[in-house]
Order: sequence, then C-alpha cells, then structure tokens
Amino acid sequence: MVSLDFKTVLEFVPRNVYESAQSDAFKAFDLLHGATGAGNGFLGWLDLPSQTDESLISRIEAVARRWKNEVEAVVTIGIGGSYLGAKCVIEALSGAFHSHVKGDFPHILFAGHNLCEDYMGELLEYLENRDFAIVVVSKSGTTTEPAIAFRLLRALLERKIGVKASAGRIVAITDASKGALRMLSDENGYQTFTVPDNVGGRYSVLTPVGLLPIALAGFDIRALVAGASVMEKACSERSSLNPALSYALIRNALYRTGKKIEILVNYNPRLQYFSEWWKQLYGESEGKDGKGIFPASASFTTDLHSMGQYIQDGERTIFETNILVEENVRQVTLGSEKNDGDGLNYLAGKRMGWINSMAQLGTMLAHVEGGVPNIVFKIDRIDECNIGELVYLFEAACGMSGYMLGVNPFDQPGVEAYKRNMFALLGKPGYEEASAILKKKI
Ligand code: PA5
Repeated sequence: MVSLDFKTVLEFVPRNVYESAQSDAFKAFDLLHGATGAGNGFLGWLDLPSQTDESLISRIEAVARRWKNEVEAVVTIGIGGSYLGAKCVIEALSGAFHSHVKGDFPHILFAGHNLCEDYMGELLEYLENRDFAIVVVSKSGTTTEPAIAFRLLRALLERKIGVKASAGRIVAITDASKGALRMLSDENGYQTFTVPDNVGGRYSVLTPVGLLPIALAGFDIRALVAGASVMEKACSERSSLNPALSYALIRNALYRTGKKIEILVNYNPRLQYFSEWWKQLYGESEGKDGKGIFPASASFTTDLHSMGQYIQDGERTIFETNILVEENVRQVTLGSEKNDGDGLNYLAGKRMGWINSMAQLGTMLAHVEGGVPNIVFKIDRIDECNIGELVYLFEAACGMSGYMLGVNPFDQPGVEAYKRNMFALLGKPGYEEASAILKKKI
C-alpha cells in the first residue's frame, strides 16, 4: 500500500497559503469528480480500474499466451502516452538484468518513440534473425514517429515470414473507427484493441495501451488493475485523507511559495522510467498558459554525484517528491575483511538495503535543511499491486492539480507547434505555406 508523508513540508508553507490551497484542492476535487471542469470529455480513466471487464483482460491474456512461446521479441511501437506507461511498468517490474520472469516470455522492445536512424537501424539488425511480433499503439492512428516505425518493421516482418503470417503477428491498439492505423488494421485483418475515446494518451496505461505489453512481458495485469482499484476507492473520498487530493494540495501550495520545480526522486533504478512516465503526465497536463510546475527527476544516490550540488545549494526554487521502497527482494550483505584496506569494516554484516536507507534519510535531512521541501511516498515493495496504486494516485492528483492551476489537464495544444514545423520542413502536402514562411527564417 502507498503511504504519503509531507510533515516536513509544512514548515515551508505559510498557514494562509496552505489554507487557500486546501480550499482550492476541494474545489478541484469537485470539478474532477463532478465532471464539470475543462476537458471533462476525457475522464474515462477515473473509474477505469473498477470498470475493467473480464473479457478485456482475457483477450489480452490470450494474445500473451499465443505469443509466449512463438516469438523471442515483441516490438511495441508508440510515443508519449502510447509508450511511457508500458515502458515504466515493465522496467519497474523487471530485474535490472531482465532475469525476472521464469519461462519464455518475449523480450519487449520499444520503437516509434524517436526518429533516430541509428536506433531503427540497430533494431532492424537485431530483429533480422529473430522471431518477433509487433504491437502498434496510436490513439489517433496518425502520429508520424510510430507510423514510420510501423512501416519499417512491418516490411521486415513481411519479408521474413510473408504477408499472410505477418497479420497474425501484428496487434494494433487504436481508435474504434478513425485514423490511418484503424484503416490499415481493417484492410489487413490485424487483431485490434480500442483506446477508449474518453481516455487521453498519458492517462491510458490501464487500458490495452499499457496492459497488453505488460502482459506480454509476463506480468500480472490483474494485480496491477486490482492495485489501481484500491487507489481509485481511496481517491474518490472527498476528504483530506485522500492521498491524491493531499499531494495535489501540497505541491500546489509549494508552487504558490515559489517552488517551481519538482524533482521525482527514487533510490531504486527500477523506477527511472516511472519518473519518465510521471514527467510526461505532469508536464503535458500542467505546462500551459504560462503556468506549471516543471517536472524533473533524479535517481539517487547516482545523481547525488551529479545534481546533488545544485539541489543542496543552487537556486531555491526546487522541491522533491520521493518514492521510497521499503523492502528489497534480494539480500546483499557486506562482508568483513582482515586488513580493512577500504575502511568498510564498520559496515560489515550490514545489508545494502539498510545502507541505502541511511543514504535516503541523510539526503532528505540535508536537503530539507538546505531549503528543499521533501514529500515522501512509501511502498513496501515494487510489485504489480503497488505500481497500480501509484499510477492511479498520480493520475488522480494530476487532474486535480491541473484544475488548481486553472488549466485544462487533458489537452496538449503546445505539442502541435513542433509538428507543424516538422511537416512543413518534410514537405508534407498541405503545409506549403508554412514551409515558405519557415524557409525565410532559416
Ligand atoms: O498524452 C498524450 O495524449 C500524447 O502524449 C500522446 O499519447 C502521443 O502524442 C501519441 O499519440 P497517439 O497515440 O495518437 O499516437
């Protein structure tokens, strides 16, 4: 179960600021749960965990069973919200050296989340002599990066096993009726899953967008959804015990006192991609209309040797939100050495987990002392259930937090600017005028 502690933060927030943020947090709760706020057509994720039906889970598990012994790798194609949810959960649940799952689960690879020629070239080479399948994810079905990756990977698959057999090795996750990917799937007879209309990309990890790749990797999507359901219930309470409301409240109160940057901190490298998912969720939901807390991340103790100096001593506009994991699955104990040449005998007999927890405590005390408020989330262990809880908690808090800022947390108009320029420069039909204007600038 996830717990939240922000005791040490309160000293950074004047009482009147806290009280006004608290009142706004309850208003934001009402907007979200009453579906009366901006973007209220995109609230399908709110009750998604409790509404996930057995037939969907069974269809997803059937694909996972079918491909389990048939392919060595599954390439999941997608970008943004069509990529980061699956990536973050799979990385969190996988061992550092991917030795986590017993059995023959395929290796999940990702593509379509960049336009790098070397990355794609290496992937095509890697797959040349391997049996692979493709999951292509695009809600709109028209995003350029995944479309390019899909064309290239589909061509490789069709060359290797033929067009007919390829159709059985491709699953598309897209809109129910529109978009190029939907048309391609219908024409070629690919199996499809639907991204619900009322769930935006960055809130879609608990739809087939996240669930299918996670199941393919061998993880328990039922436990993931069950964890999210527990949190859905906790986050539906109109009370200061609601962890999503409390988190939205305290981060917004800090923002009002000039803390403009939030660093999501972990002490377990498995959570690095959780931070990437969280950054997209908050960055794309809140960064608009000239407002928004800048979401950053750090992995400690690694980054204490790179960002530690700035965090301790640089401009005082930062706060940290820690995700601490209490239990380690493995035990690694430091031995004693006769000569104590490295001076570490004072730690002999101690587990690395304990050493890491002392580093956590020492770092938090130092940072708070240095003027960096620390919010703390704790989970007892990294497993499907706890990750499901965290995912839902951060989604629910993000919706409220966006409303507290006065923005629409469910759109992303700013993302279009780069696309317009890129299409103009690539010579896409329809962008001739934009192309002429850009060419004068370069
Ligand atoms: O959160 C979002 O809505 C975006 O990050 C999208 O997920 C991303 O742009 C990919 O879009 P699509 O799934 O339509 O290809």
